[in-house]
Amino acid sequence: MKNNTNINVEEIRKDFPILKRKVNGQNLIYFDNAATSQTPKVVIDSIVSYYSNYNSNIHRGVHALSQEATDAYEGSRVKFQKHFNAKNSFEIIFTSGTTHSINLVANGFKKILKRDDEIIVSQLEHHSNIVPWQMLCEETGAKIKVIPIDHNGELIFSEFEKLLNAKTKVVFVNHISNALGVINPIKKIITKAHEYNAAVLIDGAQATPHMKIDVSELDVDFYVTSTHKICGPTGVGVLYGKEEWLNKIPPFLGGGEMIDKVTFEKSTYAGLPNKFEAGTPNISGVIASGVAIDYLNGIGLDNINEYEKDLLDYATSKLLEIKDLKIYGVSEEKTAVISFNVGQIHPYDIGSIVDKLGIATRTGHHCAQPIMDYFKIPGTIRISFSFYNTKEEIDIFIKALNKAILMLS
Ligand code: ALA
Repeated sequence: MKNNTNINVEEIRKDFPILKRKVNGQNLIYFDNAATSQTPKVVIDSIVSYYSNYNSNIHRGVHALSQEATDAYEGSRVKFQKHFNAKNSFEIIFTSGTTHSINLVANGFKKILKRDDEIIVSQLEHHSNIVPWQMLCEETGAKIKVIPIDHNGELIFSEFEKLLNAKTKVVFVNHISNALGVINPIKKIITKAHEYNAAVLIDGAQATPHMKIDVSELDVDFYVTSTHKICGPTGVGVLYGKEEWLNKIPPFLGGGEMIDKVTFEKSTYAGLPNKFEAGTPNISGVIASGVAIDYLNGIGLDNINEYEKDLLDYATSKLLEIKDLKIYGVSEEKTAVISFNVGQIHPYDIGSIVDKLGIATRTGHHCAQPIMDYFKIPGTIRISFSFYNTKEEIDIFIKALNKAILMLS
């Protein structure tokens, strides 16, 4: 089908071995990209190459394998520094994922927050950007304030402005809602929060697959993502932190590699980034994540964004032709995620039927129960696209969905 963008989807699909497989006898249609993206062969090959050729611990050995592994690992850090336009490579910390990164930062604020200080989160947050702050509040006596959303699933900026005051110490907002796909006005949020000297953490797990992020231009204090969302392996998180903040907050995990000197009386910590990377990290994963970011940049995030927007518009218009179908999150500023329900049919039932037809969707509350509470629903069916999906796949999905609706009505 016609595609006026710079994406050659037929060629791109050849890079992903999994897209050739069948599920329940049907060609796989993978519409669960917001949960995790698929992995191109070049990334898989880099993991095989690491274990076949230079598997070794990093920063520790004088031997050749350790040097090679260290160079590749640190090379990945520089790739992410450049990709995010961070000032220094030591402002890039590798963790096990977005959840780890958020917990690392939340833990860091234990010593900074005082009783009755305030933390602002939004109603659009994933549980991983709610629970760590609640745990922090239990320990410190600080309080959480919530930016409400409107019926379109958009944050109400004027309500955010009302919540800010001298007690606000931190603002935590996702860049894009994983449940609805709505893009938040993070530049405006960061600028406003800084007027009150509050630090801002942006959860970018859903944004980094779709758009180029410039942390310097955003002037954000912390920006976090997981590389399995950007064609990398699972188990790797990237935490960008401004140097001043990373120096201010204490380490999260203690252990080898994050120390300067250890005695039984007292230990002192290493500088950045080692202070936050205790223990042997996911070396092959970090190296493969660097390959993944090169792969994405080779295609071009602007091209990806344009292509996925086309898929989003096409799928949205097809879905809206279906009777009683309601889409949640109808902002103009949206990424390629569509959450919906059909009449009173339980999302799980539709998800199960389309799975039998080879189509992977996600159903449920998407780890964002406060959004579901707002809309008074138990969950939704969510389809989320990547640059290797096609309009033909959307057509097949629409047929499968209509079949499911017929069976369940
Ligand atoms: N947070 C991931 C999702 O939205 C797992 O599916």
